[in-house]
Amino acid sequence: MTPDFRLFPESASTFADRVDHLYAFLVIVAVFFTALIASLIIYFSIKYRRRVHHEHVQITGNYWLEATWAIIPLMLTMVMFVWGAKIFLEMRSMPANPLNIRVVGKQWMWKIQHPLGRAEINELHVPMDQPVQLNMISQDVIHSFYIPAFRVKQDVLPGYYSSLWFQATKPGRYHLFCAEYCGTNHSQMLGTVVVTTPEEYSSWLANTSGESSEVAGARLFERFRCDNCHKTDGLGDGPSLTGLVGSRVPLAGGGAVIANDQYLRDSILNPAKQVVASYEPIMPSYQGQLNEADVQQLIAYIETLKPGNAPRPESAAPSE
Ligand code: CUA
Repeated sequence: MTPDFRLFPESASTFADRVDHLYAFLVIVAVFFTALIASLIIYFSIKYRRRVHHEHVQITGNYWLEATWAIIPLMLTMVMFVWGAKIFLEMRSMPANPLNIRVVGKQWMWKIQHPLGRAEINELHVPMDQPVQLNMISQDVIHSFYIPAFRVKQDVLPGYYSSLWFQATKPGRYHLFCAEYCGTNHSQMLGTVVVTTPEEYSSWLANTSGESSEVAGARLFERFRCDNCHKTDGLGDGPSLTGLVGSRVPLAGGGAVIANDQYLRDSILNPAKQVVASYEPIMPSYQGQLNEADVQQLIAYIETLKPGNAPRPESAAPSE
């Protein structure tokens, strides 16, 4: 058995090599200047050691020397800044057509919900060579979703969606860690990322008896009687939700918001925060009745409500 020791984690995403190259540059610059300064200290302390008949020459200033030690570090740090910012911005700009996977972090596990109904805990299956976006939220305290082999890490916050994207390049099993101390069993909040070919992922995805988020969301929508107020014709006490996702919503008291996941979540749990213009603030809060996974399912269902789509609750009855 060979000991599994390596200085760097495996490189298994499109970010990995680029992050490593930048990191190597930082290390080389740091090591070079550390060695240079250390050897100069030793050299000068020998050369200018105290001697009996030593003549002192007082140096009062040297314009070129001072300019050199200001300009070289400035240029090096600017290279680090531009190089790092470029990678950072790319990591933070979500890709155009990603595979969207929803994640809920809670003490002490990761709950993962794929499109089309497959859910898993502490395991994340993803296809290789395809951009994957994780939309994440915490049920309790701050966690941090960290896949060393992909060189990606993102805090997962209570009450606020954060996202992360990557593109895996190599099939295999990789560590998933929680990288933010989150209580007694933080060190056991571990998981595995399983990267497979797109074909294997599709067949894995199809191999489920669970219901999809959209269908689960439709059932919640019905159970909490959301359609009592949110009627499709817009004549209910609440606004119609058809075509809502991604649209611009005018608010009572002026201003407007784009109806994204965060807005939908806040409107379900804290409806008084942003009331739609020309509606009364009468919606009750569902805080305590719905957990974050429920809210994600409701949002997944609301996303399907587009003009022309048949309303789903009728078709949502589990087909047993
Ligand atoms: Cu979750 Cu540490």
